[in-house]
Amino acid sequence: VGKNQNSSKKPLAHVAIIMDGNGRWAKQKGLPRIQGHRAGVENLRKILDAVKELKIPYLTVYSFSTENWLRPKEEVKGLMKLLDLFLKKYTKDLIKSKVRLRVIGDYNKLPNLTVKHLEAVMDATKDFSENNLTLALNYSARHEVIGAIKRCYDEMDKESVESLDWNRLSSFLDTKDLPDPDLIIRTSGECRLSNFLLLQGAYAEIYFTPVLWPDFKKEHLEKAIEFYNARERRFGMTSEQINKETHNPVIS
Ligand code: IPE
Ligand code: IPE
Ligand code: MG
Repeated sequence: VGKNQNSSKKPLAHVAIIMDGNGRWAKQKGLPRIQGHRAGVENLRKILDAVKELKIPYLTVYSFSTENWLRPKEEVKGLMKLLDLFLKKYTKDLIKSKVRLRVIGDYNKLPNLTVKHLEAVMDATKDFSENNLTLALNYSARHEVIGAIKRCYDEMDKESVESLDWNRLSSFLDTKDLPDPDLIIRTSGECRLSNFLLLQGAYAEIYFTPVLWPDFKKEHLEKAIEFYNARERRFGMTSEQINKETHNPVIS
């Protein structure tokens, strides 16, 4: 078995990015923070193209956390406006490039018009499967898991609780239609996950880069992929086992 066929070299199917550093990018340039967010949105468009070119089917980006509501009102308002702008400006592009849009997080708490907008784009792209963009909006992993447990509880009787396993619980998570992320990238030099995909990322490779999000280009993404490709994903086993193993192991 060649080195590329074993389970430690699972092809990169899902990249998740914590797009951080917009504020510092703006500050460095003496601009208001919102200009950094604007540049961040422009950059997302470019990285989405790069991900497509690199034939990675799933991209998930952390766009707004439940904790981000704590920011100054003006900034929150600006971020919501930018989201509307992104949807208005890029919906045609998303359709043209056959990208399916999904949202994870409690997006119903966003402004009404934004919710409508999001739902319209999700609906318009729901038949695409090759390229998948997921926005984490009003998302936090802890919030997500509480929601999942509540929904799960509603559907379960005592007997099915006994047989509850990860497969079942994960079918109640917002990410139920997505594979687990293989690679999580965080820009701007912060080395933390800030409540992002904590369970789904249990075995993700994690890449931190000092580059601020608006400056993160295709070449930086390629570097992150090089890092990913150099890792041996052992899923709890030994290196020797992995090199014999031909199937993906079961993770519970
Ligand atoms: C990330 O950039 C975007 C959001 C959290 C919405 P930040 O706004 O957190 O940028 P920094 O961390 O202040 O530089
Ligand atoms: C995480 O970034 C959330 C997003 C990128 C949307 P933050 O900038 O909000 O995270 P902390 O507060 O530095 O951990
Ligand atoms: Mg930040």
